[in-house]
Amino acid sequence: MTNTCETIQRTLVLLKPDAVNRGLVGEILHRFERVGMKIVGLKMVWPTEETALKHYTEDLAIRRGEHVRKLMVEMLVSGPIVAIALEGIEAIELVRKMVGGTEPKAAAPGTIRGDYAHVSFKHADARQVGVLNLIHASSNEDDARQELEVWFDASELLEFDPHYVKQTIV
Ligand code: TYD
Repeated sequence: MTNTCETIQRTLVLLKPDAVNRGLVGEILHRFERVGMKIVGLKMVWPTEETALKHYTEDLAIRRGEHVRKLMVEMLVSGPIVAIALEGIEAIELVRKMVGGTEPKAAAPGTIRGDYAHVSFKHADARQVGVLNLIHASSNEDDARQELEVWFDASELLEFDPHYVKQTIV
């Protein structure tokens, strides 16, 4: 299906090493499917430092400090992750809502970070580690476009109409 309507968006989600280590891949994916989002790309990778630096750009260092960028890169290369491209109506905002606030301690119940984690900035800062908040989701259209390019080749992002698929298997 071609995106002729601007309300249909694609966004990038990463299930970070802490989500994979805790065996939460299926549960988190299920939440996005349950709400009606379409998975259009999916892969498991062990990120290289080069890719992690492309993902956590200078922009993160400007917003949060070079220290946070370094911790996030270290975290991302520490183990396998799952990269997911999701498509849906105003998907970027919707997915961010489902993911919840950056700090799990403050993330609302019902959100992914609020339901599956509880670490605080204070706790992480005292230990000089990044906040393990399970998941990344693109924050705006420019980031979604750039981040999808970091993790997926164009040929790995599929265009399909779920209704057509259903008819062909009946
Ligand atoms: P950011 O892009 O601001 O948050 P979000 O992931 O909610 O869009 O920050 C990127 C990551 O940096 C965030 O997921 C967790 C980490 N981080 C820390 O580890 N410590 C911090 O003090 C902050 C602000 C972020």
